[in-house]
Amino acid sequence: MWGGRFSAEPDQVMQAINASIDVDRRLAEEDIAGSKAHADMLRHAGILTQADAEAIAAGLDQVLGEIRAGTFTFSAALEDIHMNVESRLKEIIGEPAGRLHTARSRNDQVALDFRLWVKTACLCRTTQITALMQALLAQAETHAASVMPGFTHLQTAQPVTFGHHLMAYVEMLDRDRGRFDDAVDRMNESPLGAAALAGTGFPIDRQITAAALGFSRPMANSLDAVSARDFALEALAAIAICAGHLSRLAEEIVIWSSAQFGFVRLSDAWSTGSSIMPQKRNPDAAELVRAKSGRAIGSLVQLFTIMKGLPLAYSKDMQEDKATTFEAFDALDLSLQAMTGMIATLTPSVERMRASAASGFSTATDLADWLVRELDIPFREAHHITGAAVKAAETAGLALPDLPLAALRSLEPRITDAVFDVLTVDASVDSRTSFGGTAPARVREQVAAWKAKLG
Ligand code: ARG
Repeated sequence: MWGGRFSAEPDQVMQAINASIDVDRRLAEEDIAGSKAHADMLRHAGILTQADAEAIAAGLDQVLGEIRAGTFTFSAALEDIHMNVESRLKEIIGEPAGRLHTARSRNDQVALDFRLWVKTACLCRTTQITALMQALLAQAETHAASVMPGFTHLQTAQPVTFGHHLMAYVEMLDRDRGRFDDAVDRMNESPLGAAALAGTGFPIDRQITAAALGFSRPMANSLDAVSARDFALEALAAIAICAGHLSRLAEEIVIWSSAQFGFVRLSDAWSTGSSIMPQKRNPDAAELVRAKSGRAIGSLVQLFTIMKGLPLAYSKDMQEDKATTFEAFDALDLSLQAMTGMIATLTPSVERMRASAASGFSTATDLADWLVRELDIPFREAHHITGAAVKAAETAGLALPDLPLAALRSLEPRITDAVFDVLTVDASVDSRTSFGGTAPARVREQVAAWKAKLG
């Protein structure tokens, strides 16, 4: 492609370190779409004849057909997807193929292809996140009133409902979708036409190519257009955060599905057995979702590190942007699918969760709140009395609701029988009706609102 200047072939290792075709062949669709838009614009601008432009478009369609059919031979000697496509185009249509690269460089070409790919992938992940949100909503609706222990420090804190717990992830995932959408909004500008770095003297029309490729406008600075990779960084940040959320949910599934907790049972389709211990049902998929967040975070750090010291404009370092970005998108792809499958087919053990919620003096706060509400005791003092009640219950080996009234009265004589109404786990969750609270009525409202929003 640059034979004119050289007389010897590149060293084999040079070729090995330089070639990116094994990675960037994933950009074939975008590369060909970009070339077709470019050729059409060149014709429009009178830079290409109608006949040449038509030959190029038909030839590119054929190349695309071969790639889709799997009959295309990718060559490392041709370095990357751009040169592989162009070279095959030349075989097919001959001389006009050489006119396609007028007013263009691989620098704006790769910036375009990669941007298009990342944009499509972001939109795809958004759809996948929505599917997971829907699976969570379905479980949350069924279990809006299923009581489980709520934890802080992984110590029993207060009863919550399983539906409420799952809805917390719906909120996180919606913010994750928002981050992808924001990134897409900002990356929605076309770098094509920046050429190598300085723009071009040909009378091109960058508005035409931008519109044809679905961008809202062309990027306004040619140096920025070929050097910017913050669109990929932003997408990787969105991936890393989303993968982090999935990892937390995965961790909870690992804990909940253990024999010691027994809160949920993963379906057979999402469990694995052990080759030696027949009793095992391992949550491998959840563990791998948890681990894949490491990969996602790693990709973000890797691209930051590649980009942080690069002078404007293009440097070959930037070729390494793709493998790591693809990996992160792939990791999130699998993680979202696996999580959706696990959640959709998960069976919560309602009785087991309820029993666990009732242990650990989980309604102690309800006792303190009752003392404040009914006896007008300041909260700090009520907290102290409740602490003594918990101690008494613990010493007697009883749950809080089973403590005799006399024992409670010895701590505060004005306590009446009515206190027992608030000490059950159901009464506790029913009472938490503040906006965003765990009361089943509130959870059902949230589920309904989200169902309406997601359609
Ligand atoms: N394969 C290259 C990449 O991915 C394409 C751009 C090459 N540009 C250049 N000036 N060598 O970055």
